[in-house]
Amino acid sequence: MAYNITVIPGDGIGKEITDGAVEVLKAADKKFGLGLNFAYHDAGGTAYDKFGTPLPQETIDACKASDGVLFGAVGGDKWDKVDPAKRPEKAILGLRKELGLYANLRPVKVADALIEYSPLKPELVRGADLVIVRELIGGIYFGEKCESEQHNGVERAWDLENYSVPEVERIAKLAFETAKLRRGKVTSVDKSNVLATSRLWRRTVEKVAKDYPEVECNNLYVDNCAMQIAVKPTQFDVIVTGNLFGDILSDEAAVVGGSIGMLPSASIGECTSLYEPIHGSAPDIAGKGIANPIGTILSAAMLLRYSLHEEAAADAIEAAVDKALAEGYRTPDLWKDGFTKVNTSEMTKIISER
Ligand code: NAI
Ligand code: MG
Repeated sequence: MAYNITVIPGDGIGKEITDGAVEVLKAADKKFGLGLNFAYHDAGGTAYDKFGTPLPQETIDACKASDGVLFGAVGGDKWDKVDPAKRPEKAILGLRKELGLYANLRPVKVADALIEYSPLKPELVRGADLVIVRELIGGIYFGEKCESEQHNGVERAWDLENYSVPEVERIAKLAFETAKLRRGKVTSVDKSNVLATSRLWRRTVEKVAKDYPEVECNNLYVDNCAMQIAVKPTQFDVIVTGNLFGDILSDEAAVVGGSIGMLPSASIGECTSLYEPIHGSAPDIAGKGIANPIGTILSAAMLLRYSLHEEAAADAIEAAVDKALAEGYRTPDLWKDGFTKVNTSEMTKIISER
């Protein structure tokens, strides 16, 4: 079996962190005989400089033809004055649309060794291990909008929220499938006491739930969910929700895990899926070789699990990351007295060896 992976380093620390993740994938390939092939393509400011567009067609075509996309990050001050339609960030928005990336999966897991970095009390976050499944290409972000109109003599603006049954079914199925690979619990989050779209959401999720009798399913209102994430994050396994609620809750949940450099994400598509760390291009540390590669390495593990169904290799990478942290290795973003300070390539090598 051979797999083709498209690697898009992008801008800023993008090259450093994707180099790290590819090195770890190669180590996993050697151990598990996966047959991985890597092809590099441009996107973001780097692509704009070369081709005058942040998302060249050949990059889109390469993504569509591959088994999975590993993405670094795009953006930077250098391109601040570029025409808004050609800004580097348009590359990731364009890929979401072109690849039909309808779901964003953001796992939040607190490594025992990193509990002290969470702003929440250690006894609250210990054992927290959840995934937010956010609908990514529907809802109010993509609905009809009006920037300004006169209504009864005053100026107003509006955004339309709409969800169709197939859109909700698709994301709900993914959430239940994800829960089957985990601890078998789905929490669906809505505001069905107020919103019509939320009532359709809840009805549809409950219908899909009937096909998954082995998975436990409950509902929470979004305001309560926001509170519960901070009060008792260990109660959650999979949280499924719409675009707007998911955007907010996934940033809130990320804080439970402590450090931005650590967290991976997967954007699941109709054909190809895309995997990237949750952080950006970190222009302030770019080129120094000190970025934390772990968010990208764990994104690579998600690629193995969700796109290639290579569970054992994915588990091995996650275990290697935990081991490196437990042995006290830290990149500068997480370093403090008593730990061993390592740079990006040293951390990569330590994880690869493990
Ligand atoms: P950022 O996530 O790039 O950086 C925020 C802070 O976290 C910085 O101090 C940075 O040094 C630090 N940081 C981030 N990742 C790190 C890592 N792996 N290791 C160590 N420290 C790390 O967010 P910021 O500064 O708001 O945005 C910078 C650029 O990235 C902007 O152009 C923004 O639009 C873009 N961006 C791109 C994203 C993407 O490509 N998906 C997502 C978010 C932002
Ligand atoms: Mg956000």
